[in-house]
Amino acid sequence: MLAYTYLEKGRFALINKEKPALLDAEDAIVRVTLASICTSDLHIKHGSVPRARPGVTVGHELVGVVESVGPAVHAVRPGERVAVNVETFCGKCYFCKHGYVNNCSHPEGGWALGCRIDGGQAEYVRVPLANQGLTPIPQGVSDEQALFVGDLLATGYWAARIAQIERGETVLIIGAGPTGLCTLQCARLHAPGRIIVCEKDAARRAFVEAHYPGVLTVPPEGLAEFVRDHSEHGGADRVFEVAGTEETFRLAWACARPNAVVVIVAMYDEPQVLPLPSMYGKNLVFKTGGVDGCDCAAILRLIAEGKLDATPLITHTYPLRDIDAAYELFEGRRDGVVKVAVRCSD
Ligand SMILES: NC(=O)c1ccc[n+]([C@@H]2O[C@H](COP(=O)([O-])OP(=O)(O)OC[C@H]3O[C@@H](n4cnc5c(N)ncnc54)[C@H](O)[C@@H]3O)[C@@H](O)[C@H]2O)c1
Ligand SMILES: [Zn+2]
Ligand SMILES: [Zn+2]
Repeated sequence: MLAYTYLEKGRFALINKEKPALLDAEDAIVRVTLASICTSDLHIKHGSVPRARPGVTVGHELVGVVESVGPAVHAVRPGERVAVNVETFCGKCYFCKHGYVNNCSHPEGGWALGCRIDGGQAEYVRVPLANQGLTPIPQGVSDEQALFVGDLLATGYWAARIAQIERGETVLIIGAGPTGLCTLQCARLHAPGRIIVCEKDAARRAFVEAHYPGVLTVPPEGLAEFVRDHSEHGGADRVFEVAGTEETFRLAWACARPNAVVVIVAMYDEPQVLPLPSMYGKNLVFKTGGVDGCDCAAILRLIAEGKLDATPLITHTYPLRDIDAAYELFEGRRDGVVKVAVRCSD
């Protein structure tokens, strides 16, 4: 079968590999129908994910059809359409029991798929711990609608949950890439009074204005004043940093009101500095980390009810055989791309 593979730093290639087989009682084999490319795949390509294993099939954002299951898999059946979770987790360890599945202590727990073990930019994928890692897609929900459930929507849902948004509050989202856009949709579920999106790219600001009427957009220049003018208590009540630069890290805490919650969703290439003397007295709460992707069933229900829809993010679709071109487009941010869907099988 065809599998897009991390060969060495700077080089991915579509190569032929053996179709995966069940290795463990809790495994499932999934025929991948639709996969996507994530910014984290680019981090692997550039060699900035030390855990990523050369030779691994990449891809951790996908949907498909269950082909076969091990004897201990009861949550899904062959033939069922499923959303695949970015994280594999045991459901039994201390961290899983507390919902912190990103820190699952199982050897194949956490973000393994498409990083340490073969992922889903391929015709088939083996998913370990399948009772937790696969979620049936409700009838009436398309592959496109479910594509981001396991990764980007899970991230937005998790970020909005840990921010503890209260009705009527002012939410600031910095960065309107695909992750910021999913965070925006999930934040809206908590009925904030106002959402401000800060994005430096004019085309991305225009995308927000076109798809999410009522959301205020602003470039980073003058952001602090804008937020002060559009909030009741001198700054945003909840801030999401979803851009990942030194400037946006600083803006995130600078634009927060005293006692706000600042959720750091972004991953940084460099360490960031918390200038505690300048923040003294602001009494901020910082929350950081990798997504705890354990809400996929709830997210799929919201999609089925029409309350979440990330399909406008799919701006381009390619067949698996043209995945090099899909990467080139996504990486080069050409042609207004937000997300690329890759059709891996019919
Ligand atoms: N915590 C998690 O589990 C998790 C999950 C998914 C993604 N992420 C991280 O979230 C971040 C965003 O991911 P993405 O896929 O949306 O990436 P992206 O690069 O497409 O989005 C970042 C956006 O920030 C904007 N930006 C950059 N500098 C800015 C500035 N100074 N002011 C305003 N906007 C600015 C960019 O124009 C871009 O639109 C990445 O760091 C990614 O690694 C984290
Ligand atoms: Zn990802
Ligand atoms: Zn666990």
